[in-house]
Amino acid sequence: MPLNRPMNAPAEGRLTVPKFVAMKKAGRKITMLTAYDFPMAQLLDESGVDAILVGDSMSMVVQGHATTLPVTLDEIIYHAEIVGRAVQRALTIVDMPFPSNHLGRYKAVENAGRILKETRCQAVKLEGGADQAEIIAALTSAGIPVVAHCGLRPQNVHLLGGYKVQRDHDRLLKEAHEAEAAGAFCVLLECIPAEFASEITRSLSVPTIGIGAGAGCDGQVLVTNDMLGLTSGYVPRFVKPYADLRSSIKQAVAQYNDEVRTGKFPGPDQQFK
Ligand code: KIV
Repeated sequence: MPLNRPMNAPAEGRLTVPKFVAMKKAGRKITMLTAYDFPMAQLLDESGVDAILVGDSMSMVVQGHATTLPVTLDEIIYHAEIVGRAVQRALTIVDMPFPSNHLGRYKAVENAGRILKETRCQAVKLEGGADQAEIIAALTSAGIPVVAHCGLRPQNVHLLGGYKVQRDHDRLLKEAHEAEAAGAFCVLLECIPAEFASEITRSLSVPTIGIGAGAGCDGQVLVTNDMLGLTSGYVPRFVKPYADLRSSIKQAVAQYNDEVRTGKFPGPDQQFK
């Protein structure tokens, strides 16, 4: 008799947390990109990306804020539910927005629990390592897989006075190790010297995903809008532009404007008899 698969259970072919972790042991580099809406999440998934992050970068990329601080848990859940419905294969991870993991274990489990219950996503990411060990352990024992985000923590922008490369070698090593010991299944390393990131990667048994952390990590993540050339203004140095979609869109819209204004569009093919 066929087993009924509940809506949220991973389908065959779906990248699960254990399969994701096994990629490190198999020596397979992991790709991760951000998505915030249905068409982009579907495109990334169809293009074979391993993991999709509904990042709190949404605050800057989608909502136009100057930092990641303003986005709320409800807003993240709204977008994660959309992304979760679009993705068939990739592992989907959702950021815990500030301060949803800073109000004690009970609140953190309640907030991360909402993310898993109300979206089809499979894991959460939170900024922190050693200081969040208690929270990571509580979430993990509640069955909520956690990615720890160490190095540059954009939610600490005011404490740090800006987005800077993090160079405190011993603290970074401790952060990553305590996150793994607490149960994190992956450690994201942001803006740290490539040499430190390689050392951390070699010393952990869970995968590391780097952003501005060099080629020695087990995988890489970028903000999709940055790598596709959709971001206006400042783009960090560690981003490689794989496309220039702002130019393509501007060119297409300029042509449309021109054709409507000169009566060239709609043509015979775009009209009904
Ligand atoms: O919110 C985000 O997009 C991130 C990046 C590190 C990818 O956390």
